[in-house]
Amino acid sequence: MNVTPLISAETIQRRVAELADALSRRYAEREVVLLVVLKGGIVFAADLMRRMTIPVVIDFVRARSYEGTESNGAVELTFSPETPLEGRDVIIVEDILDTGQTSHAIREWVRAKQPASVALCVLLDKPSRRRVDIEADFTGLVIDDHFVVGYGLDYEQQGRQFPDIGVLNGKERSI
Ligand code: IMP
Ligand code: MG
Repeated sequence: MNVTPLISAETIQRRVAELADALSRRYAEREVVLLVVLKGGIVFAADLMRRMTIPVVIDFVRARSYEGTESNGAVELTFSPETPLEGRDVIIVEDILDTGQTSHAIREWVRAKQPASVALCVLLDKPSRRRVDIEADFTGLVIDDHFVVGYGLDYEQQGRQFPDIGVLNGKERSI
């Protein structure tokens, strides 16, 4: 995989620590549910939770966008959490906010479970790609419209293990 470095492992770790501090302050004295969006969110979530100083419960959700339907934004949940979300403080943890369709659909699904609160925490944000009106409550880093891999993010399931984030060469635009 031919990748040009974009965000170093050190920068990622620094921002993740800052996000963990912000979350720990915001939800002080509370127990939160970190709802990790599979698969890309796992590396971010694993580092984030280890730096948080409040009690956390972790669970998972998986969503799939229908092939070729980017314009209508059809998203299907293919894995849902076992933790009851009613009355809980839920933080959706996602690798990247791109068009916003996945996060929007997951957040709506969570809201229907009547949580006490729901927030969206993303490592990366590509605002120029947005198709749905949604913003993260906690954002690690804002990037331009590059297709990036590493730190959980994949291209055809490869590259998730890289400790840093880079731009995939020959694929300047996102899919
Ligand atoms: P959205 O629904 O368009 O916001 O897409 C969100 C999902 O698309 C993310 O959770 C990623 O799995 C994937 N994605 C979006 N941009 C990238 C990227 O640059 N690299 C790898 N995966 C990406
Ligand atoms: Mg992916």
